[in-house]
Amino acid sequence: MLSESLQNKLNEQIQKEAYASNAYLALATWAENKGLPNIAEYFYFASDDERSHMLQLYKYINANGGSAALKDSLGKVKTSFKTVLDVFKHVFDLEHGVTVSINELSTWCLQNGEHATFFFLQAFVLEQQDAERKVQEIITIVERMGFEDRNLFYLDKQFKKINQQAGAEGGG
Ligand SMILES: [Fe+2]
Repeated sequence: MLSESLQNKLNEQIQKEAYASNAYLALATWAENKGLPNIAEYFYFASDDERSHMLQLYKYINANGGSAALKDSLGKVKTSFKTVLDVFKHVFDLEHGVTVSINELSTWCLQNGEHATFFFLQAFVLEQQDAERKVQEIITIVERMGFEDRNLFYLDKQFKKINQQAGAEGGG
């Protein structure tokens, strides 16, 4: 049985994962509008990935005697950016925000003797470390290949490889 306070904290995390999923969808639209189909595909994939995190938490709450629920409004997502580099810097901030909140939740569980949920959350903790590292690698690629209009065709092509790698690893 989950305590009331733990349930509330897990439900707050659900909102954050759902928000991230929406934020990635907005980035997919941005990329589609710029004619960058492989970058758009990367964001559709990332959106699915966040939704799957949300669902894992959602099901965990319901399976352990709680009531999972999403709020009516998840908050406004950012839709306008100057360059692809700005987009990926935004992605890094987005992922880092999730990392901070997962870490806080994990610390809270430990301090409050919620060991089963602490254990459950460790997959998310490692996932976030992985996500931040991958976004950082992409920022390096974007900086090296260039993100001026004339570079965008090749930069987008590069994402075909990135997407294939992420698909092969079964997560992004
Ligand atoms: Fe996530």
